[in-house]
Formats: sequence, C-alpha cells, structure tokens
Amino acid sequence: MLEQIRSRLAEISCDAFISTYRTHRRYLTKFTGSAGLVWIGHDSKTLVVDFRYAEQAEEQSPDWEIILQKTTAEDTLAELIGRHKARRIAFESEYVTVDQLAKWQEKFEGVEFVPTKNWVAELRKVKTADEIEKIAAAAQITVQALNALIPSIKPGIAEIELALELEYTMRKLGAEAAAFDPIVGSGPRGALPHAIPGERRVQVGDFIVIDMGCVYQGYCSDLTRTLVVGKPDAKQLEIYNTVLKAQLAALEALRPGLTGKEVDTIAREIIKEAGYDRNFGHSLGHGVGLEIHEEPRLSQYNEEPLAPGVVVTVEPGIYLPGWGGVRIEDLVVVTDEGCDILTNMTKELIVIE
Ligand code: GLY
Ligand code: MN
Ligand code: MN
Repeated sequence: MLEQIRSRLAEISCDAFISTYRTHRRYLTKFTGSAGLVWIGHDSKTLVVDFRYAEQAEEQSPDWEIILQKTTAEDTLAELIGRHKARRIAFESEYVTVDQLAKWQEKFEGVEFVPTKNWVAELRKVKTADEIEKIAAAAQITVQALNALIPSIKPGIAEIELALELEYTMRKLGAEAAAFDPIVGSGPRGALPHAIPGERRVQVGDFIVIDMGCVYQGYCSDLTRTLVVGKPDAKQLEIYNTVLKAQLAALEALRPGLTGKEVDTIAREIIKEAGYDRNFGHSLGHGVGLEIHEEPRLSQYNEEPLAPGVVVTVEPGIYLPGWGGVRIEDLVVVTDEGCDILTNMTKELIVIE
C-alpha cells in the first residue's frame, strides 16, 4: 500500500504525502480516532495525533511512528517538514479545505503543496480478504435484521417504527452503527428512492421499500428489499418482476473485465424494454467498504474494467411518482469468474398477509 504511494510520490517529485481525511487515516494506519495527520515520506511513516488519542494510536498503529501534537497541527507538521527537509508535499485536494491550504502556504513559505486525487481511493477499490470478511459479516447482520423484522410488519405500523426496529436489531446483532439512516418508503413514498421514514402507517396494498445497512468493524453493508402488504395486483407484479429480471441479469453478467458502464447497461436495457427507463434515474450500483458509497461505480460514467476483489451493490429500481417504487439491492464481491452475493436473502416477492 505504502509502496504505491511512494512510487506516485516519485513520479511527481514530491518528498511526502499527507492526509487528514479520517477514512484514509484509518485505511492507511488502522487508527480510528477522529483527528490526526498521516505523513508518508520515502523512508518515513508518521501518524500525528493529539493528547486524546496518544494511547489508542500506539495500540492501533504499532508499525507507525506516533508523534504527539504539541501545540497546533501546523507546528507538528513544521517539525516533520524540517526533519525531512521536505520541499514538495502531496496533499489530497478533495479533502483539504481552502482555508487549511491557505494556512499551510502561509506558514511554510518555500514549500510547495501539490494537489493529488484518488491515490487512496484507487487502493481502496480492491478489497483484501480481511476486508471482504468484515463486509460479509456486516451483510450477514443486515440480512438477519431484515428477516427478524418481517413478522412485525403489519398494517398500521409506522415507517419510523420499522426503521427504529431495524437499527436496534442490527446493533443487538453486533453492528457498531447503521451505515446510513434506514430508508423505509411505504405506498407512494416508495417512489422516493431515498425516502426518509415518517409517520405514514403501512396499509394493505402497499409496496414497502426497505434499504438498510450497518457498520461492522469499520466496514459497511447495503441491502434493499421491496415487500408487499396483501395480495399484489397485476401492475405490482409486473414492476417487481421487471426490476428482479434486471437485477438477476446484471448479477449473472457481472465479472472482472466488464466496465461499470456495461453492467449498468445490462440492467438498464431490461427496464427500458419494459417501458420504464425514465423511472430508473440512478445508477445501478456503487462500491462499498469503509464508506457506504465509494469506488467503483456501476454507472454510465465508469468505463474502467472491474477487477476481482471489488465489492459493489447491484440495485436497479423503478419509481412511479404517486404510485410507489421497487428496488432490489444486493451487495456482491467480484471474483475471478463472476461474483458472489454477500447479502443472501430471498428475492421472491415477500407478501405480508
Ligand atoms: N443506501 C443508499 C444506497 O443504496 O445507495
Ligand atoms: Mn442501499
Ligand atoms: Mn446502495
């Protein structure tokens, strides 16, 4: 991991790479604290933390030099710049504020701060076996929590009660947090792809879109199922089966070498043939790892071939304003030959009697 960063540093003649972005700090050093600076030089690797995290950093990042921030973060950076006689420093332009950059430039005259993008995101795309295990455990908890919820879904229960129950069960099953606020969209509210659960009470005839995930040892999961309350009508079945067909076709095709765009197109064409292309307005999927949305994307804008070891969602949907919606989402890991589903749960339409 550090070798790739160091060779990139060499390519742009920089002396060090610094990161202040929490996810990258964790990814690079395993330190989970809320503040700190990572320094990677050609022959140095240092984690700067403040008093609150001194002991935790020693524990979590034993292979790193830990420096305790004495006064300001800038003073500690000055110490590192001085010690390594650094003249060109690569920073992450997506995560450094304009204000922070101005502070550095003002304080370190003669040092050039060189913007870089995606160095760490690129590394994070392909997961290690250990990362896949954690994501799979998060996925397993998510599936268990949704299965446990099904018996309590009844006409009269409010969306917000269902969302609370899901969060509680995921935590009970060992998750450290929800990966995002659960989405519960019942009846016409299902047409909002990211419906915020509200006071609406479930009624006979509703589709209910439930989209949820949790964090387990830092890693996220993501799962959506759409259920129906009472016997589905012909239109509900038609739309559900179209989304399911699109999802199954994308899963069947998904393998290394295909681009995100190609996989997205497979699902999109099926939805288009059924006449609903204007009602599938988001991309097919996204990477999942330390963050719920990360690279690579399964979208019309990703023309890069997918590599074995990437973890992505496959989540087509059809949304009809005023009527409701259907989304079916699984989390999968791309293997050498195809993909393995991490969210093992039925996709037969679940009917709440
Ligand atoms: N939970 C949002 C999504 O599925 O991307
Ligand atoms: Mn989701
Ligand atoms: Mn998703």
